[in-house]
Amino acid sequence: MEKPNTIAPPRGKLGVLLPGMGAVATTFMAGVELVRQKKAVPVGSLTQLGTIRLGKRTDGRSPKIKDFVKLARLDDMVFGGWDIFPESSYDAAAKAGVLDPHHLAAVKQFLSKIKPMPAAFDREYVKMLDGKNVKKGKNKYEIALQIKDDIAKFKKKHGCSRLVMLWCGSTEVFMKPHEVHETAESFEQAMKENHPAIAPSMLYAWAAITSGIAYGNGAPNLTVDIPAMQELAHKHKVAIGGKDFKTGQTLLKTVLAPAFKARMLGLNGWFSTNILGNRDGEVLEDPGSFKTKEESKLGALEFILQPHLYPELYKKIHHKVRINYYPPRGDNKEGWDNIDIFGWLGYPMQIKVDFLCRDSILAAPIVLDLVLFLDLAQRAGMRGIQEWLSFYFKSPMTAPQLYPEHDLFIQLMKLKNTLRWMQGEDLITHLGQEYYD
Ligand SMILES: NC(=O)c1ccc[n+]([C@@H]2O[C@H](COP(=O)([O-])OP(=O)(O)OC[C@H]3O[C@@H](n4cnc5c(N)ncnc54)[C@H](O)[C@@H]3O)[C@@H](O)[C@H]2O)c1
Repeated sequence: MEKPNTIAPPRGKLGVLLPGMGAVATTFMAGVELVRQKKAVPVGSLTQLGTIRLGKRTDGRSPKIKDFVKLARLDDMVFGGWDIFPESSYDAAAKAGVLDPHHLAAVKQFLSKIKPMPAAFDREYVKMLDGKNVKKGKNKYEIALQIKDDIAKFKKKHGCSRLVMLWCGSTEVFMKPHEVHETAESFEQAMKENHPAIAPSMLYAWAAITSGIAYGNGAPNLTVDIPAMQELAHKHKVAIGGKDFKTGQTLLKTVLAPAFKARMLGLNGWFSTNILGNRDGEVLEDPGSFKTKEESKLGALEFILQPHLYPELYKKIHHKVRINYYPPRGDNKEGWDNIDIFGWLGYPMQIKVDFLCRDSILAAPIVLDLVLFLDLAQRAGMRGIQEWLSFYFKSPMTAPQLYPEHDLFIQLMKLKNTLRWMQGEDLITHLGQEYYD
């Protein structure tokens, strides 16, 4: 793809549309509002706190990313979305129990005004949930058209110049690509025939893309990872990205595994288990939804360690992932990893990681960054899969002929070099010979 010539400046309001307004979505919106009120620092957000080095190490040029690429301002963001539960985002945030009372109180007025639109939902795809705030229609196509209508009305009501949609809804049952996903035409026909291979998340994605709106996928759902959506994204000049926010355990996995490989240390096994007690944990109790998450969490190691290139080190890895719903912990997940590595002459060693994390606190800044970068990509005319946003995803989408890059630091380099490329700056290779000439 050619470098974008000029990137349209972020004028006017940016509408942020969130299908699924539970723990992650409400923690994200509350956080943006607290930052706008100057009551909090956007910790965890590369777009807000990160800098980017330009030119040589001796040049001393390291602007903030948000100034370098002219990202939308937090003050210009307006929020909306859909959920099967009709409560306001204030009630949803209070129920999620992520934020302390003083933070909730500071955003009560703001979040109380955000009420979810009726959702496109079907229990066949998320078995553990049931709610009444749901759209009705003759078939899936009609429901998708209703979502398009919601989008158009939201845009008009809030006077948005641009919109981005980011899925923060539940994990759906595991689905494999089906022949109806092959082309835009077969996909549309399948919606009209209520085909089971069309999940609710796909209706939102179809509505967004055909409305010219970028779509990001925070869950491991198949959604836009199918040829039909990619065809539509090119046709409607829309940026898409996914899948599944890389927050806690997988974030650490994609830091540690590259370190083992860099030092040529072997790996016999990696056992990862989690306890969590939020609604996401409850949804993942269903084996169908768990399978979707499991596939997403399992992929990283194989791609990073490349056992076909290093059979002596990584041929026989026992990789297991478990998620246990345990209500007392709420959103405060505990993720344990037992890692069996081996070193010189094959002597075994063990590493134990115990990450007492907060799921939505880790996810919220990722939502913010994805919204801002997808809006940037859209303004820059970059369409289709945005592989440079792999940094944020557990199972990054790529072109069909490519394997995904999972190593966090390769992903970060790719992201920053993409920003440099967009602005016509030299790419940074870290060669550095010129300093010694
Ligand atoms: N928090 C993390 O660290 C993290 C990391 C990676 C991925 N995720 C994913 O992000 C998503 C959101 O997580 P969460 O903790 O906010 O879960 P949550 O259960 O609190 O919120 C999800 C919301 O989506 C709604 N929903 C489900 N199907 C819907 C539909 N078809 N249309 C509209 N709304 C729908 C549910 O009613 C619920 O309110 C999950 O899929 C989760 O797996 C979270």
